[in-house]
Amino acid sequence: MICAALLAGGIGTRLKQGKPKQFVNINNKPILVHSVETFLNVEEFDKIIVSSPKEYIDKTNELIEKYFPQNDKIIVIEGGATRNGTILNSIHYMKNQNCDENSILVTHDASRIFVSEILIKNSIKYAIEVGAASAVIPATDVIFESKEEEKLTDIPLRKYLYHAQTPQSFNIDNFLEIYDDLSEEEIDKLDEAMMIFYLRGYVVKLFSGDPVNFKITHPFDITLAEAIFKN
Ligand code: CTP
Repeated sequence: MICAALLAGGIGTRLKQGKPKQFVNINNKPILVHSVETFLNVEEFDKIIVSSPKEYIDKTNELIEKYFPQNDKIIVIEGGATRNGTILNSIHYMKNQNCDENSILVTHDASRIFVSEILIKNSIKYAIEVGAASAVIPATDVIFESKEEEKLTDIPLRKYLYHAQTPQSFNIDNFLEIYDDLSEEEIDKLDEAMMIFYLRGYVVKLFSGDPVNFKITHPFDITLAEAIFKN
């Protein structure tokens, strides 16, 4: 089984639009709808699992029904308290469908609306071959580390640094096996799904993402996204 988890369980506080960012219109269509459309074009998927904050589940279902009427490939589930919690809920949905042991989940931030079909297909291919894979782009700026406020504490070499994007895809049995083995302390530190594989020494394949596959996060990103559509 191959499923997509379109992660939309957050509320987009940094975008400051007074509503969760997945409902904000870009080029006259909600952000979530753009992402679902691209994923529907990839025929490998058995299901597209769309998550939503609990209080917006009805609104998310209405939106999906409006833009994709009677499409039984799309399923809406409740997100978790954290992004990783939302990913876990998506995995549990797959497990409840009695998926086979080589099942793959392709996770994607719903707010990366310019993801391409080729990026999605590459991530499926690498997750099948390697077990876990993430789209990345090389860091363009030098990254300063500051563990104390306003004080430089390290300058990691830029040539080794990448920005993580999504899609991030993996074998769900590997994910659960590692997750169940993590200590409370390790789980508390998790802010990134690929860290789960990294912590236990699994290979994570990094493949080329795309600068246009940026995550709509701050108000300026709305201006940028609208400009890309006008171009
Ligand atoms: N996400 C999720 N479940 C959560 C938190 C985040 O599925 N509990 C999703 C978001 O909906 C988003 C993606 O993870 O598509 C990337 O997270 P981020 O950009 O941080 O989104 P938000 O948490 O919505 O934004 P903010 O941090 O500004 O509140």
